[in-house]
Amino acid sequence: MRFSLTFATALAASGALAITPEQLIGAPRRGAAVPSPNGKVALFDESQYSFEEEGRTVAWKLLNLETGEIKESGFNTSEINEIVWIPGSETGIVYINGTNENIPGGVSIWVGDINDPSGSELVAELNAPFSGLKVANSTSGDLKFLVNALAYPNGTAFNPEFAATPKHTGRLYENIYPRHWDHWLTKERYAVFAGTLQSKSKYSLADNSLRNILQGIEYTATRPETPIQPFGGSGDYDISPDGETYAFITKAPHLNKANYTASYVYVGPIDGSANATAFNGPDSEASKAGHKGASGSPTFSPDSKKLAYVQQDEDYYESDRWQLYVVDVKNDGGKVSVSNLKEASKSWDRSVSAIKWAPDSKSIFVDGEDYGRVRAFNFPLSEKEDFQPKNLTGTTSITDFFVLPDSSLLVSASAAWTSRDFYTLSPKGEQKVLFSATEKDEELSGLGPHTYSEFFYKGAAGVELHALVVKPSNFKEGEKYPLAYVIHGGPQGANNNAWSTRWNYQVWADQGYVVVAPNPTGSTGFGQKLTDDIQGEWGSLPYEDVVFGWQYIKKNLDFVDTENGICAGASYGGFMTNWIQSHELGREFKALVTHDGISQTLGAYASEELWFIRHDFNGTIYDEGSTYKKFNPFDHIANWSTPQFVIHNTLDYRLPESDGLALFNVLQSKGVPSRFLNFPDENHWVLNPQNSLFWHQEIFNWINHYSKGEPLDTVPIGE
Ligand SMILES: *[C@@H]1O[C@H](CO)[C@@H](O)[C@H](O)[C@H]1NC(C)=O
Ligand SMILES: *[C@@H]1O[C@H](CO)[C@@H](O)[C@H](O)[C@H]1NC(C)=O
Ligand SMILES: *[C@@H]1O[C@H](CO)[C@@H](O)[C@H](O)[C@H]1NC(C)=O
Ligand SMILES: *[C@@H]1O[C@H](CO)[C@@H](O)[C@H](O)[C@H]1NC(C)=O
Ligand SMILES: *[C@@H]1O[C@H](CO)[C@@H](O)[C@H](O)[C@H]1NC(C)=O
Ligand SMILES: *[C@@H]1O[C@H](CO)[C@@H](O)[C@H](O)[C@H]1NC(C)=O
Ligand SMILES: *[C@@H]1O[C@H](CO)[C@@H](O)[C@H](O)[C@H]1NC(C)=O
Ligand SMILES: *[C@@H]1O[C@H](CO)[C@@H](O)[C@H](O)[C@H]1NC(C)=O
Ligand SMILES: *[C@@H]1O[C@H](CO)[C@@H](O)[C@H](O)[C@H]1NC(C)=O
Repeated sequence: MRFSLTFATALAASGALAITPEQLIGAPRRGAAVPSPNGKVALFDESQYSFEEEGRTVAWKLLNLETGEIKESGFNTSEINEIVWIPGSETGIVYINGTNENIPGGVSIWVGDINDPSGSELVAELNAPFSGLKVANSTSGDLKFLVNALAYPNGTAFNPEFAATPKHTGRLYENIYPRHWDHWLTKERYAVFAGTLQSKSKYSLADNSLRNILQGIEYTATRPETPIQPFGGSGDYDISPDGETYAFITKAPHLNKANYTASYVYVGPIDGSANATAFNGPDSEASKAGHKGASGSPTFSPDSKKLAYVQQDEDYYESDRWQLYVVDVKNDGGKVSVSNLKEASKSWDRSVSAIKWAPDSKSIFVDGEDYGRVRAFNFPLSEKEDFQPKNLTGTTSITDFFVLPDSSLLVSASAAWTSRDFYTLSPKGEQKVLFSATEKDEELSGLGPHTYSEFFYKGAAGVELHALVVKPSNFKEGEKYPLAYVIHGGPQGANNNAWSTRWNYQVWADQGYVVVAPNPTGSTGFGQKLTDDIQGEWGSLPYEDVVFGWQYIKKNLDFVDTENGICAGASYGGFMTNWIQSHELGREFKALVTHDGISQTLGAYASEELWFIRHDFNGTIYDEGSTYKKFNPFDHIANWSTPQFVIHNTLDYRLPESDGLALFNVLQSKGVPSRFLNFPDENHWVLNPQNSLFWHQEIFNWINHYSKGEPLDTVPIGE
């Protein structure tokens, strides 16, 4: 790896604007900025990988919301896992210290002040690796909190330090879903725990107050689990600001969890006087109105009287439209009741993602994908169900945002040219940029919107489709650059104007390509119909859309060399690349790159979330009329002839590595130039920095050879 370091340094010294894989991986990465209750500063985490040290440094930093000045908080990240602000205070914090002096594998909770890093007090010792802290500052002065951890079937938090070592390694199952994402299922499930920090002379954990709030929910098929795996976090639960009531989502207890996406919102009293109950499950008002799918983001209003959340209609379609709902919540001495269901985004043809209440509890800010970026919108509760919100933000993509006391938004955003921007947006729409990574980070120097553009073109069904274009940083007018055509995953997903640390189009472009990334049928953010239309059409409509896109580029973009182009994609994009290899468009590329893509649709049942294939292929593999056989790349082996680079990771349980191996073995058997790259320790993604560097180097080595005639200069493992 010494070589790559020298390489990066040499490029930087030559003054080239290009961003290299080393610079992408070695640049600082910043989380979302979370404002203090008084709206004066915001806290964020910043991490940076060093190839020299072969390690990552992490820091908690403070952003001054007046001046944009950033400074170290003085809080030690190697000891502190999470920090949250105490509502109602100016600068008070509660944090999770990742160690516990008395209990190995446990954590501790501390109360302090952001301006006094050495003055914190230990207030609770927890006996397991809890995370996902949420805090309410109750009227009594006690701090009520929620955290989550894995729990044994009996509900007790699981601490791996004390787990009994089994005598054998066998894993025995009798339910579908033996594994998920990158791990095999064990008997433990995640659960949310509620606790009280009693306020006396100092705070301390009230006796026996840490209580698993998922206990007592009856189930017939699926044991309650929150956060919902594998991507759920503290956004799957909330505590009311008055500290009286909790809400969380958990999957439908009467439905098989590999078959269905359905999940419901449960509410209950923090004091434990009653068990949690769902208000949008079977037989509820929501269910009778047709809202039977997954729920998400339960969020209490600042006055604790309302709860907002999102839900999908269909119970086994993960990409159905997420609609915004609001209910009234009343906690009458432990009896929690919910009423007055409002369908706030009923007529809006977009999916709601994050939910943030305005300080007066009278409107809700949300973000959601919209025409190739993530934008903010506002829903006043006084509006009717036909309300169409206007986008409050424009060009870049929101990662997360918060509402300040004066109803301004503090936005953490990114774009193709910046890994992180922080800005405020006043209620009048005035935007004030506080920080832009591209101006500060030397790794990103020279990047900017000048390399980025978009176009619309007509797709197979006659609809206008969107595509984004990223040119090399050192693009010269009048010159042509080979096409790098990149197909996104999902397939219900989108190529957005956002920063990526895995598929960063500027990094690809700076290898000397024009990246064009289309949003064909199946894409999100352009209306639900385009998303839905891919059902049963994996290899038809989107393939034609991609062909039309390629023809548009050839005809209209005179700076793109389509004679020496390459095509790449991961996940569904990998399937599409294999499908392209199988068909005419495959002959138009010099090389193909498939990362963790399906090559044999008849093997799809080795996946885990079976609702996904049942929806997308119109039924189970044994249902008449399902489309597994219709779009199977393996039925088109006779056409495979374009050099192909195949990546497939061992821990990818979503799309097992047999798909990549079989693809590679056939290509080799047929004499089609091909290479196979496997990471035994990576899942659907490549996250380890050294692995990511190798991934980039070997892909670029391959495409630069076939597209530009550069030497194929690494030697794979031989016979
Ligand atoms: C942070 O904590 C670690 C682990 O306790 C310790 O080794 C290190 O010296 C601390 N750093 C600072 C700046 O206090
Ligand atoms: C809780 O909020 C009140 C104001 O409502 C504030 O006075 C108090 O300091 C807050 N508690 C803490 C621990 O910051
Ligand atoms: C974290 O906890 C350890 C004891 O487990 C203690 O020594 C250390 O000072 C704590 N650090 C902070 C920042 O609270
Ligand atoms: C729950 O189960 C675990 C593992 O079997 C055990 O160690 C623990 O004592 C049990 N807790 C209770 C309250 O029974
Ligand atoms: C919660 O449910 C369990 C199991 O049904 C039951 O034994 C327990 O009494 C319930 N607790 C409360 C507070 O209702
Ligand atoms: C899963 O769904 C399929 C398709 O609807 C159904 O045939 C099967 O019985 C379900 N399995 C379970 C365990 O619910
Ligand atoms: C809203 O989106 C449109 C394009 O769809 C854009 O022209 C406009 O500037 C955006 N509005 C704001 C306030 O950014
Ligand atoms: C798949 O199912 C959808 C929804 O029922 C339907 O619109 C579509 O025509 C079906 N596609 C195929 C190929 O059967
Ligand atoms: C090869 O590609 C052509 C053109 O797309 C297609 O018509 C033909 O069916 C393919 N042959 C095979 C065996 O897939």
